[in-house]
Parts: sequence; C-alpha cells; structure tokens
Amino acid sequence: MSKEKVVLAYSGGLDTSVCVKWLQDEKNLDVVCVCGNVGQEETGLDAKKQKALDLGVLDCQVLDLRDEFSDEFLTKAIAANSMYENKYPLLSALSRPLLAKKLVEVAHEFGATCVAHGCTGKGNDQVRFEAAVKALDPELKVIAPVREWDLKCRPDEVAYAHAHNVPVPEGANDNPYSIDDNLWGRAIECGHLEDPWNEPLDDAWVMTKNPEDTPDTPTYTEIEFEAGKPVAVDGKKMKLSEIVIALNKISGDNGFGRLDLVEDRLVGLKSRECYEVPGALTLITAHKALEDICVEGELLKTKIKLEQDWATAVYNGQWYSPLKNALDAFMADTQKFVTGTVRLKFFKGNCHVVGRKSPFSLYDYGLATYDCDTTFDEKASAGFIEIDTLSLKTWAKVQGPSSAAAQA
Ligand code: ARG
Repeated sequence: MSKEKVVLAYSGGLDTSVCVKWLQDEKNLDVVCVCGNVGQEETGLDAKKQKALDLGVLDCQVLDLRDEFSDEFLTKAIAANSMYENKYPLLSALSRPLLAKKLVEVAHEFGATCVAHGCTGKGNDQVRFEAAVKALDPELKVIAPVREWDLKCRPDEVAYAHAHNVPVPEGANDNPYSIDDNLWGRAIECGHLEDPWNEPLDDAWVMTKNPEDTPDTPTYTEIEFEAGKPVAVDGKKMKLSEIVIALNKISGDNGFGRLDLVEDRLVGLKSRECYEVPGALTLITAHKALEDICVEGELLKTKIKLEQDWATAVYNGQWYSPLKNALDAFMADTQKFVTGTVRLKFFKGNCHVVGRKSPFSLYDYGLATYDCDTTFDEKASAGFIEIDTLSLKTWAKVQGPSSAAAQA
C-alpha cells in the first residue's frame, strides 16, 4: 500500500531539511516539497531542489511567485497602506498566505492528505500558514514538526541532521539572527536583538546602508500611480515587482527603510524586531501623499481607521477571510481616483515627500490660497462656526467650566 503524502513548505535551510527527514522517518509519509520564490535574497534554489531530491522526496517544486506576490498581495497592501500597529509593513504576513495557497494547490495535484511547515510554536507564521490552509481546504491536515519534535535549539537540529545524513549548510550555527525576507523587505530577529536595550549591530542590515555612509547630495525620485497601483519610477513604466526592486535599491542606498521596534505577536508576547523595508516604506509614503490630494476628506478619515483593521487581520493570518475580503472591497473603491505622481527626496536615512500632482486632485488652489483672488467665502465661516459650536455652547452654559454647576 502506498504511503500517505504530505506537501512541505521547504526553504532549503536546516529547519525544513530536517523536517523532510522527520516526516519520512517519524510520520512514515512521502514528502513533496514546495519552494516559493517571493523575492528573497537567497540564491541557489536549484541546489536546494537537488538537496531535497537527494533526501528522497517525491518531488520538489520551485515556484517563481514574485509577480503573483506583487500583483495579488503587494497591490492590496499598498492600497491599505499596510502598517501593523502603525509601524510594521507586514512583510512575512503577506508571503505566508501565498505560500499556503501553493501548498494546497500542490496537495490537490498529488492527492496529499496533509501539508507541513517549519514554523516554530511561538510565532505568528504558524498561525498564518494554518489559517490560510484551513480557509482554502478545511479537510487538509497540517503537521508542524518543529512544534512536535524535541529538538530545542539549533545545535540539537544540527546533531539530528548529522545523525540522519541530512546535509548541514556551511555555517549553520554561525548566523546569529533568524531572517525572513521577500520583495517587501527583511525581518531580523533573535541573538543580540533579544535584549530590546541592545542597539542593532551593523551586521544585522543588508538591504540598507548606514545613513552615515550615504551620498552627501539628495536623490530625487518620482513614482507614478494609476488607480492606487504603482506603475512607473522616474518616468519608466515597470511591473510592480520591478518597481519594488528599484525602490529597494534607491532608498536602501540612501539609508532609508530601517525599523527597530517591539510588536505584539498574535500569540500574546511582545517581540523585538528589526526590519529593512526600504521599498515598502517608500511606496506607502508616496501612496499616502497621493491619497491626501485624491481621496475626499471624510472617506480618507474612515479609510485611515480601517487600514488598522486590515493590517491587524492580515497580521493575524486572516488573509482568506470574509472580513479581509470586505475590507479589500472598501479599499479598492477608495483607489479609483488615486492616479498621479509623487516626488520624493531621499537624504541621509530620510525620505520626504516634496511634490504631488494628479488629474483628479481635490486640492483647489483658488480655495486654499491666501492671495487676494481666493474663491473661499470667509464671511460664510461665521455662520458655520455659529451652528457648529451650538452644542458646545449649550454644554458650556449648563455643565461646563462657566456653568453654575462648576461654580458650586
Ligand atoms: N514578526 C514578524 C511577523 O510576524 C516577522 C516574522 C519573521 N519570521 C521569521 N521566521 N523570522 O510578521
């Protein structure tokens, strides 16, 4: 009788290589690996595929997901100015649902009954993988080897690997950090960073220059949007994945895009995280500046509130959920007129918006100007304030600081 099959989210690193062996030996499963390219720095995907095949997997599918990630996930993140707790642009939370979707597709293709991932039991990523899998196919079982096995730390895993003929990558014990990266940026945790009082060391940063070592003259960049989607940089039309790569370079070279923060994980603990998100922060900064002129004021105020709900839902693994679907529909509606160009100035770790224009701009020079030819009727403001403050005046007389109640 043939064995049951499991589809594993495989990165080719030590954790997921040990997972392959563990699933084969401890769970008696045939393993199919899926290795998604979402724009992470790592190269050598062919070698990783060969490594999986050498471990005896049924298949190892290396999928180039960069455009799907950009067009389906980053486009929505930009529309929602995605920023969890107002500070973190959600890079890992955006890639996990896409990888989960691929696991489910490959599971169907191979008739697998389970999927597996290499996430730890105290992070958010396990929740994101599993929530997405359950939303896409509630019948699939999920296995999380790292939650089940007794390998408590990296040296334990290395020892297991040696004992089971799993090749150990050169320097597997050397990297002091846990890294997750994709087109949208790079998350850096662990090691020296676990004490939130420690300043990050220079070796934590890869995509961004130290602002002290950046050019002494500013760099200007123009980003063009159509209906909320970035379409060109400095007049050059590009697909979104290329735009993100180009902006990662421009802003990273100017030292913009480093974050050092403490965030609240879904599983209840606070964690210190450093992020390099040069392109992501640049695009969100520019997009917000364009919305400032293109989105009507009351709509913008409500949108800003719902952006937090969108980011929290996505952070918490609700990418495929009715709440997130409805919020996306709202966000999409707000983007219809977000078309135009934003001019940015990068200098020594900063990025400032210095210009914005749009054929749909609601900024009305005649209304705004302090020149003599203004079209704003200042006399009308007196009546407006009279009515607008009516409730406040009533309160002031009866209950406020000048009332008899306050004197008593
Ligand atoms: N804290 C971030 C998040 O939950 C980053 C997680 C990064 N994952 C990792 N394996 N280093 O989205």
